[in-house]
Amino acid sequence: MSTAAERVQHEGLRGKIMSAAQAAEFIADGMTVGISGFTGAGYPKAVPTAITEKAQAAHAAGKPYKIRMITGASTADECDGVLARANAISFRSPFQSDPTMRNQINAGDAAYMDVHLSHIEPQVRAGFFGDMDVAVVEVAGITADGKLIPSLAVGTNVTWLQYAKKIILEVNAQQNAKLEGMADIYDSIGLPPNRQPLMLTEAGQRIGSPYLACDLDKIVGIVLTDASDRNSKFAEPDEMSKSIAAKIIDFFSHEVKMGRLPKNLLPLQSGVGNVANAVLAGLQDSPFNDLVGYTEVLQDGMLDLILSGKMLSASATALSFSPDALQRFNDNIDALRSKIILRPQEVTNNPELIRRLGIIGMNAMIEADIYGNVNSTHIMGTKMMNGIGGSGDFARNSFLSFFVSPSVAKGGAISCIVPMVSHHDHTEHDVMVLVTEQGLADLRGKSPRERARLIIENCAHPDYRDQLRDYFDRAEKSGGGLHTPHLLTEALSWHQRFVETGDMRVK
Ligand code: COA
Repeated sequence: MSTAAERVQHEGLRGKIMSAAQAAEFIADGMTVGISGFTGAGYPKAVPTAITEKAQAAHAAGKPYKIRMITGASTADECDGVLARANAISFRSPFQSDPTMRNQINAGDAAYMDVHLSHIEPQVRAGFFGDMDVAVVEVAGITADGKLIPSLAVGTNVTWLQYAKKIILEVNAQQNAKLEGMADIYDSIGLPPNRQPLMLTEAGQRIGSPYLACDLDKIVGIVLTDASDRNSKFAEPDEMSKSIAAKIIDFFSHEVKMGRLPKNLLPLQSGVGNVANAVLAGLQDSPFNDLVGYTEVLQDGMLDLILSGKMLSASATALSFSPDALQRFNDNIDALRSKIILRPQEVTNNPELIRRLGIIGMNAMIEADIYGNVNSTHIMGTKMMNGIGGSGDFARNSFLSFFVSPSVAKGGAISCIVPMVSHHDHTEHDVMVLVTEQGLADLRGKSPRERARLIIENCAHPDYRDQLRDYFDRAEKSGGGLHTPHLLTEALSWHQRFVETGDMRVK
């Protein structure tokens, strides 16, 4: 492996190599900072800590210091975590999953705008977030002619490099130098009224350049690092995840038999987490071959499908692996370079493409209601968990959209099927199939009342079925509208009961 210094091959840029502390001097209180990174991959490893030290020094001297931080998606403790602990973030967008950042948001100490991941780049380009003062972007290397080799996440880097007034690059020697050639950077989407169609008609197609580009004069500092990505370890799929996965795979077989899906299915998108990974692990032993992935984050399960030959190719904006999977990726990178395509998130999550390619979207949820509305983001209606991420991009535009969850949380004290969700992320119009370990509800072609009966009987936990049937029966008889019957004063009472007593069950 080459050192980070050897990876700065452009003569003129070598003079800009500096320490993280020197680079952080370009970032002043109140600035909007675009940071690279997507689901624990490709985020800067050194400059955030240097910003934190600046913030701590300013706060100790009684001076204000906070930045407005916009990323591709979640980063890791060395980025969101350190900055949040130092109280150095005033505003955060479009997605986070860090425990300290989450607490700051829920305590009102940091403002948060939860944005569809396909929207963040065009909205920044359109100026909705004001100017972007500085971008801090991790890359795997800089070529002799000044092109940037993307690391394990492309995310929003195209836009951050184009729109930030100043650029700080982190060149990370831990990112495999052989990543060169894996990315497909398409940067000509534009803004209305001059937006151009994205001419991608197959998930595995390449339409751009393998390199990121920027105005080299905007680069004010290059910081050398040698640090690994978050590389969270995946738990082996538990019985719950396996049970949900098995139901989805059975459903695929049924759909193929009915002639509604081709034998190799349609391009698969899978959200992050253990259930998602279990579905992909389940496909390993399934009768389906020649699969294709068109997803946002590619994790261990999809990598193993490619390595085993079950999946032909996969497109994603980030590769977020466990340490073992990263090893398998690095060992096989020469063979994988043509099969994995790393794209900007504005492309991976693009509604136009998701609709055109006919994606099968599978995402996790916090709760669903009896009519099929889904809450992916808020605990008891008020506290932010992570954010909507790309789930809305895929749910609304997929050919088939699944939402999955265990039927209960917190040892059974919370039902994930409720009379009315406490926050709406995906409405009944976007949710086609709900799956819990109890069963699967195929909501396609059904009216709200038909859906309610199916969701209660197939997906709710037995401890809550009578309570849900009772709510629905009384709502139907209440004299209100019979299209979507509700008892308005009771619809959110399950959440209130949990807040007051710690249990949704009526005792
Ligand atoms: N009410 C309250 N808490 C609930 C709950 C509910 N209905 N359902 C789950 N929880 C809690 C769990 O108890 C757990 O708490 P803990 O961390 O204290 O143990 C936590 O929420 C996470 O639940 P888990 O079942 O482990 O789910 P997960 O890790 O699969 O995450 C989401 C589920 C919905 C939070 C996560 O998928 C997410 O953030 N989704 C939105 C973004 C997205 O879909 N991204 C991918 C798109 S491409």
